[in-house]
Amino acid sequence: MKRKLAYIIMAGLLLGCAHTGPAKGPTDDRNALIKNYKQMLPDIKFDDYIYGALAMNPDAKGQYDDIMSFPPYSMDLDNGQKMWGKPFKNGKKFSSCFPNGGKNVAGNYPYFDNTANRVVTFENAINSCLKANGEEELKYAEKQMGLLTAYARSLSDGMKVNVKVEGAGALAAYEKGKAYYAARNGQLNFSCRSCHVQAAGKFIRMDQLSMMIGQASHWPEFRGGTDIVTLQGRFKQCEKNVRAKPKDANSEEYNNLEYYLTYMSNGLPMQTPVFRK
Ligand code: HEC
Repeated sequence: MKRKLAYIIMAGLLLGCAHTGPAKGPTDDRNALIKNYKQMLPDIKFDDYIYGALAMNPDAKGQYDDIMSFPPYSMDLDNGQKMWGKPFKNGKKFSSCFPNGGKNVAGNYPYFDNTANRVVTFENAINSCLKANGEEELKYAEKQMGLLTAYARSLSDGMKVNVKVEGAGALAAYEKGKAYYAARNGQLNFSCRSCHVQAAGKFIRMDQLSMMIGQASHWPEFRGGTDIVTLQGRFKQCEKNVRAKPKDANSEEYNNLEYYLTYMSNGLPMQTPVFRK
């Protein structure tokens, strides 16, 4: 009898551990990160995380709002719209490849494709569409893809980022992205975390560091108003800054990194494209 009781108590303890044990899984990761930023940057509202470093500097945010009301990249966006609307040789268009003609879909990317056993980004979906229609694919992180996705993603403005991590394959890809984010790299031995989590809000030379949450909701950006940069292009810039060797755009590493990074922006509204200095 006594022994039975001891077993029951032990089982109870074990179950208790399972509930209160260390943070595990994407939801807990994200909650821990939100808590971390709330403590570090208590004055910034969650919805303003999409503005990154601008949310920490009212003057810079004011200038940004002015620029966004007459964006210097509006001609580029028009070109993206033309690319999106131009019929393929078979008469179909990009809109035929996406539900709802491509409206309010971009926030579901990247997703994990169980059949292909890999992360699929929005750019991958654009290229699959070209391929399926007998057209030549676009170079992944380069200007034409940037212009096209600047317009195509703008069809999802206001949609909340909605990345799902479900199933073993998806979780493995997420965990790889997370490990990449935390791995120190380059001659300066920084990880993405060192800057965008541990030092968020701090200055590095003239730049204030944005938080990871909110970084993925507005790509591509026009840096300086005219220089188009895709999200994976930005990964490369950050890696070059710490003198690490950047990975290729569309590599498994960057796609997993994008998956992890974008998951953290879940619930925040999309807006594409945006200006950054
Ligand atoms: C040495 C510090 C440093 C490291 C390490 C670093 N970054 Fe950055 N990153 C910056 C600075 C500075 C900016 C520009 C200011 C800002 O928006 O934070 C930036 C901007 C960004 C942006 C754009 C934010 C926006 O809204 O425009 C993204 C996305 C980003 N970094 C992701 C990463 C990822 C992913 C890694 C790891 C591969 C990384 N960064 C590593 C310093 C760093």
